[in-house]
Amino acid sequence: MSSKISLTRYLVEQQRSEGHIPSQLRLLLEVVARACKGISQAVNKGALGGVLGTAHSENVQGEVQKKLDIIANEVLIEANEWGGHLAAMASEEMDSIYVVPNRYPQGEYLLLFDPLDGSSNIDINGGIGTIFSVLKKPEASAEVEEKDFLQAGKQQVAAGYCIYGPQTTLVLTVGDGVAMFTLDREQGSFMLIEENVQIPRDTQEFAINMSNMRHWDAPVKRYIDECLQGKEGPRGKDFNMRWVAAMVADVHRILSRGGVFMYPWDRREPDKPGKLRLLYEANPMSWLIEQAGGAATNTRQRILDIEPGKLHERVSVVLGSKNEVERITRYHTAQ
Ligand code: AHG
Ligand code: MN
Ligand code: MN
Repeated sequence: MSSKISLTRYLVEQQRSEGHIPSQLRLLLEVVARACKGISQAVNKGALGGVLGTAHSENVQGEVQKKLDIIANEVLIEANEWGGHLAAMASEEMDSIYVVPNRYPQGEYLLLFDPLDGSSNIDINGGIGTIFSVLKKPEASAEVEEKDFLQAGKQQVAAGYCIYGPQTTLVLTVGDGVAMFTLDREQGSFMLIEENVQIPRDTQEFAINMSNMRHWDAPVKRYIDECLQGKEGPRGKDFNMRWVAAMVADVHRILSRGGVFMYPWDRREPDKPGKLRLLYEANPMSWLIEQAGGAATNTRQRILDIEPGKLHERVSVVLGSKNEVERITRYHTAQ
């Protein structure tokens, strides 16, 4: 039954019956989904489309940009700038905010994105995705400025990601649970495959980059060490491990079958709070996880409560099955 519901119909029903989304937000989400279809096409062409490899440039975070990082960023901007629903955009791949040009009407929403998450997987045909977050421009501000984007994650009005894997699947929340839509390439539409996604509270699967173990803080070491002791250890059960090196794919697995994902602070770059970015990676993923009954912290506090200080702020991330996230957070706060 649910396979007959398109993203468009889902959004119309959210607007009509639940009152969750005004028409401008519905338009915005449709446009983001259309952009993701375009990115999915480019991803699928791979070497045949000349989209693999490096662009020989660096972003504001000092990371080497891949061609697809730049292509995905451009697709999202071109799709979104003219519709009248947005005031400005912010992206992992742009130093500062992109204000909608004067020739187009300005809307009341702000769109933030990681255009291509999991860049190291592009050239190996691995899982990658696009992560997005939507905020409302604060009423008071006339001209949109960077500080308008510095809102806690709990202020988000929509969040989601699109994963370009064996299937292209868009996962969305507008504050009414989590819904998943898979792209039907013959129809050209995202079709609903699951609603009210729920993450089990307990899990036997963790995701962390184990190669950083020697740089971790003691509570992280303790947690992973206890998992590794399996049935014979204090947890009394065996754990499995997964690490895709694309947050989008690790989060998708957790939404599908539970688990816990960690990218904590470590000693490699002690002055940075973590690797992942708060506004367009951690916040949208944390809201999706919470909406599916999971939890998300920076090892000490709820991620969605953090007041950001700057656009490209980084953060430690622990998210997924609630009881595990609470345990890891307890190990940190009880120190
Ligand atoms: P991006 O490709 O947008 O820079 O993000 C990559 C992130 C995240 O998706 C993933 O979990 C993590 O980096 C992987 O990092 P390591 O290569 O350090 O494992
Ligand atoms: Mn990313
Ligand atoms: Mn990225």
